[in-house]
Amino acid sequence: MKSSLAVSALLTAVLVLSPAVSHAHSGPAPLSWKRDNLAAREGLEHRCAGTLAHRRARRAEEAWDAVLARSEIDSKENLNLSGLRVSARRSSNKDSTALVTPEVTQGPYHVLGEIVRQNMTEGQAGVPLEISIDFIDVTTCEPVKNYWIDMWQCNSTGQYAHYGAITVGGGGDFPSGPDPATTTLGPYSGVDDPAVADFLNTPTVDNDTFLRAIYPTDERGHLRAYTVFPGWYSGRAQHFHIKVYAEGYIAENGTFVANSSATHTGQFFFDADTLDAVRRTNPYNTNLIPWNESVANENDQWYPYQSATGYDAEMAITWLGHRLEDGLIGSITVAVNTSFASPELSTQYSDFNVTKYLEEGMLPFASSDAAGPMDTLAATFGRAT
Ligand SMILES: *[C@@H]1O[C@H](CO)[C@@H](O)[C@H](O)[C@H]1NC(C)=O
Ligand SMILES: *[C@@H]1O[C@H](CO)[C@@H](O)[C@H](O)[C@H]1NC(C)=O
Ligand SMILES: *[C@@H]1O[C@H](CO)[C@@H](O)[C@H](O)[C@H]1NC(C)=O
Ligand SMILES: *[C@@H]1O[C@H](CO)[C@@H](O)[C@H](O)[C@H]1NC(C)=O
Ligand SMILES: *[C@@H]1O[C@H](CO)[C@@H](O)[C@H](O)[C@H]1NC(C)=O
Ligand SMILES: *[C@@H]1O[C@H](CO)[C@@H](O)[C@H](O)[C@H]1NC(C)=O
Ligand SMILES: *[C@@H]1O[C@H](CO)[C@@H](O)[C@H](O)[C@H]1NC(C)=O
Ligand SMILES: *[C@@H]1O[C@H](CO)[C@@H](O)[C@H](O)[C@H]1NC(C)=O
Ligand SMILES: *[C@@H]1O[C@H](CO)[C@@H](O)[C@H](O)[C@H]1NC(C)=O
Repeated sequence: MKSSLAVSALLTAVLVLSPAVSHAHSGPAPLSWKRDNLAAREGLEHRCAGTLAHRRARRAEEAWDAVLARSEIDSKENLNLSGLRVSARRSSNKDSTALVTPEVTQGPYHVLGEIVRQNMTEGQAGVPLEISIDFIDVTTCEPVKNYWIDMWQCNSTGQYAHYGAITVGGGGDFPSGPDPATTTLGPYSGVDDPAVADFLNTPTVDNDTFLRAIYPTDERGHLRAYTVFPGWYSGRAQHFHIKVYAEGYIAENGTFVANSSATHTGQFFFDADTLDAVRRTNPYNTNLIPWNESVANENDQWYPYQSATGYDAEMAITWLGHRLEDGLIGSITVAVNTSFASPELSTQYSDFNVTKYLEEGMLPFASSDAAGPMDTLAATFGRAT
């Protein structure tokens, strides 16, 4: 897609620090949650400075390569000269890491046995979003290679695959965490409590699989995946879920089977300017929940938990062109505690018609695929299949 050379306005990132206004689903978020464990965060930034700087520089370079590929500018030199490089619509450097990226609930819509694939769009309408995440080991600062990243989100009008009927125009209900106003938030304050296991084990109600996938990190600890920007639903700020697994394999049918529990569960958020641009476009603007009743990050009940230890839970956004339809890249770094066992409180399995999906090429890593991409993936990532 060609974009003009027009220099677009700088999208300044909004660091939301204001105390929460009243909202049915939120407690007042104290200013202290951003300050909590600041020393620890600075400690990690200092200790892993070399790795982090290297990863960020490489990711930024790749983002500009992607911008360049879609523009009429013919070289990086001219890209620099055009001024686009410094003034393109890109949120400021919001990529920060905490001591460890805090744990946050998987919520009620996680299912097991997701399809192994890099592109989870499945024809869903919305602003194209490329997910670009670096995973580093919080103890060693080394890249977290060949880990499996389970990803899921609602669609542009706020509904989750497998839960369409119960998330229509609402998003369903969900458990609250401890009240951030009265709790000192640490990296593990948002961990799922086995006491709410029933709540998080929501029976699926349909066989849709859109905007769900699992895909491994590469040798650099980097994950790239393709989706559309999530919409909003009642009671939650817009977000994107992940679970991080060290060990697992691809079943014959092309879905993932974990060998052990996840090492991290978390959610990413988005800055207010990006959200405001997206919500004006179709089909986001057809959401049954009016925008004025959506939840901002500072009013979200889980945002403070994901931001504990000073972690900046908002993805840095790069516009791939001057129009939203050209797509966005959302990037962030996750510092993983590879020793941690993150609870899995769902027993629900992704269910769909495997024969039909095979026919439609929707199971790229199924072993019955003649091209044998599963073996390629296994060879590439050195995983047992
Ligand atoms: C473009 O600018 C960046 C940042 O200033 C610089 O690192 C890079 O070398 C420049 N590239 C070219 C081809 O001039
Ligand atoms: C992902 O799949 C959608 C169709 O579902 C397609 O339109 C899009 O181009 C794909 N993205 C990439 C990066 O391949
Ligand atoms: C989102 O998913 C629901 C449930 O499948 C579907 O009815 C709705 O049309 C989807 N939204 C868009 C914009 O396609
Ligand atoms: C999902 O697919 C399975 C297998 O094809 C089928 O048995 C089941 O009834 C389907 N469930 C729904 C809700 O359609
Ligand atoms: C995971 O479990 C499968 C099935 O038991 C096994 O074949 C495979 O070797 C295991 N992978 C790892 C990395 O432990
Ligand atoms: C949101 O706006 C609609 C009109 O577009 C209005 O009916 C509704 O009362 C507003 N909701 C709130 C919470 O202000
Ligand atoms: C990592 O998790 C282990 C096991 O729960 C825990 O003992 C350790 O303190 C954690 N380390 C960090 C840096 O959070
Ligand atoms: C795919 O295979 C796994 C392992 O045999 C199984 O648990 C899962 O239910 C299957 N998925 C579907 C959609 O049939
Ligand atoms: C699954 O899909 C195949 C191929 O499209 C179809 O022939 C079969 O009837 C479907 N099975 C079910 C249970 O819907």
